[in-house]
Amino acid sequence: MLEPYYLTTAIHYPNGKPHIGHAYETIAADVIARFQRLRGREVRFQTGTDEHGLKMAQKARELGMEPRELADQMSGHFRDLFDVLNISYDRFIRTTDADHHRASKAIWERMAAKGDLYLDRYEGWYSVRDEAYYDEKELVEGEEGEKLSPQRTPVEWTEEETWFFRLSRYAEPLLELLRTPGFLEPASRRNEMIAFVERGLQDLSVSRTSFDWGVKVPGSEDHVMYVWVDALTNYITGLGFPDGGTLWDKFWPADLHLIGKDIVRFHTIYWPAFLLSADLPLPKKVFGHGFLLNRGVKESKSAGNVTDPMELAQTFGVDALRYFLMAEVTFGQDGSYSAEALVNKVNAELANSFGNLAQRTLSMIAKNMDGKLEIFELASEDEKLLSVVSKACGETLPEAFDQLAFSIGIEAWLKAVFACNAYVDEQAPWALKKADPDRMKVVLQTLFIAIRDLAIAIQPVVPEKAAEVLDQLGVASDRRGYADLSYREWFAELAQGGHVIGKPTPVFPRLELPEQEVA
Ligand code: MF3
Repeated sequence: MLEPYYLTTAIHYPNGKPHIGHAYETIAADVIARFQRLRGREVRFQTGTDEHGLKMAQKARELGMEPRELADQMSGHFRDLFDVLNISYDRFIRTTDADHHRASKAIWERMAAKGDLYLDRYEGWYSVRDEAYYDEKELVEGEEGEKLSPQRTPVEWTEEETWFFRLSRYAEPLLELLRTPGFLEPASRRNEMIAFVERGLQDLSVSRTSFDWGVKVPGSEDHVMYVWVDALTNYITGLGFPDGGTLWDKFWPADLHLIGKDIVRFHTIYWPAFLLSADLPLPKKVFGHGFLLNRGVKESKSAGNVTDPMELAQTFGVDALRYFLMAEVTFGQDGSYSAEALVNKVNAELANSFGNLAQRTLSMIAKNMDGKLEIFELASEDEKLLSVVSKACGETLPEAFDQLAFSIGIEAWLKAVFACNAYVDEQAPWALKKADPDRMKVVLQTLFIAIRDLAIAIQPVVPEKAAEVLDQLGVASDRRGYADLSYREWFAELAQGGHVIGKPTPVFPRLELPEQEVA
């Protein structure tokens, strides 16, 4: 039996509409969730919105709204986007949810009971954009000599009475954790975090008194919790903390927190320290993915290059977008995208290669065999093709996806598609029609089996399109898991049952670049 699997994305600030980076992270998480389910694991997948803090309060004020109103509205846009993107989450958490306030208070009380919280005065730098405190030494200089955070966002001097968390106590266990192979990936992000701890950890300010949009500190009601304290707690709220129960027992500690590389510090230093203080088990893995650039440039309002992911999905199709993002970018590194690159890749790989293979094969079966399957015997070249396909689908792709190396897994899959197309060209079933009709049937049905494996394997990436192919082939919905890959009896069962394939309809249309994109 495979273990249950719990994964989370970062929860997103609903201070504006979702951008492509949100779509990217959530699609990647969905690919992982679907992949683990197809392998037979019980998966819990959580995403949501991070609704408290100064950034939300300021944005709402700027718009003349209540923070709650802004959060309701924007959180709705995130949910709408995730519906369109086919995100198979189990819970969409909002940090304004009542159970989340309760969980945040409960973890606070545990840290207090440990003696890890004390009242003092905070004087230092704060970036509202990052919702982060920075040490003077960490700041960098902007173009006009102004002080900026290491992420190059504005910082402001802050002085107020706050609660502090004794982060300094946890340096040793944190170093041990950071050095644990597999905890923080890609490994290249590890050194930076280790250096941060080795420079000496200062206690962390964990409450605010200058505004009140947040979770109230138990017993200290003029304080609200520092937004990251409540935000990080979302990961356990969603499993029923502090009450425990089935979800808690089954899914904590998390198998994977999938996040952007800019918030690794919060997830590999602050979060584990809070959990250690609260005597709770630590997550198994944190993966910091890279950023998605628009033609090599970071998207921003000032650069005027912000893309609406909803529009991308509607223009090109959800699965085209999912495929492109997963196949194009080496996961963990920064990547670049453009409409041209998307159209070219999807047309070449999905429409012309896999789509065409499925469409050609099914049409020939429909035309030359009345759509009926027959029992047949494979020759050695047929076996050879099927073994290439089953290695790619049953070994290389799953091993790569397990390591979150999506582009490598997809590349192996695509090579198997190419192998099928090369086999079609060599075997030339259209020429066999007169010369050797029995051999033609063998060739077409070998391809039928290969396409089934290819469609099963690629489901996590293009769930809708793969399902359409599997429907046309006649694969039962309960025989589409990874354990069913290379299930040869399936074919005999279909053939003996007099199976007639569905009407072959093209599944992957060729995409066109919209007019304004051509210039
Ligand atoms: N809202 C934060 C951001 O976008 C991420 C919070 S993830 C959390 O940077 F789990 F810690 F809440």
